[in-house]
Amino acid sequence: MTGVRGGYLNPTHRRTEKEHGMSTTQKVAVLVGSIRKDSLNRKAALALAALAPAGMELQIVEINELGLYNQDLDQSPPPAWAAFRAQVNAADAVLFVSPEYNRSVPGVLKNAIDVGSRPYGQSVWSGKPGAVMSVAPGALGGFGANHHLRQSMVFLNVPMMQQPEAYVGGAANLFDETGANTNDGTKKFFENFINAFSAWIKVHTAG
Ligand code: FNR
Repeated sequence: MTGVRGGYLNPTHRRTEKEHGMSTTQKVAVLVGSIRKDSLNRKAALALAALAPAGMELQIVEINELGLYNQDLDQSPPPAWAAFRAQVNAADAVLFVSPEYNRSVPGVLKNAIDVGSRPYGQSVWSGKPGAVMSVAPGALGGFGANHHLRQSMVFLNVPMMQQPEAYVGGAANLFDETGANTNDGTKKFFENFINAFSAWIKVHTAG
């Protein structure tokens, strides 16, 4: 991919479709902030993937094998970091689907964000349109994680979709085993969210 690198050195820059190397398909890298097997957030990500409009493809980028970010390794990065960075670089946009841990972003997801942000000047995030959905069994729907993630994305020059906000609370009974929505209201909300994100990507990659 031939995107502009190190965008936070030039924070007003927005990538054009040409710079993105964007085809007619919108490729979305999905980062799930929980690595547990039965993760509700993973199910939510799968539900969104199934509801994505024609011309939009969601692919989960795995983050569980990255190891902890360590600046000492920037000169000779582990293969897992290089593979992760290449996968995000190849995408047109990024979607975060995450729980809240102790009112903030789970460490495993923050670690992946940090890995993608370095080496300095070569962030994979800069200029890519983004969105976040937070999912929790509790009533607050991961509000704290949702907004702490937005704070990092401001610094990383990721234009984050503002509306619809997505705080999915009471999530324990919203998905079946395959991740499909079991509730019509939630399904409609997910559909609306992913359609809005598709439109957001178009606006933020139009050249
Ligand atoms: C949680 N959980 C949680 N929930 C919440 O609404 N606010 C919070 O601050 C926290 N904090 C928290 C910390 C830690 C370490 C754990 C393990 C859990 C509960 C969390 O929302 C619940 O376990 C979700 O099911 C996690 O998402 P996945 O794994 O189902 O996607």
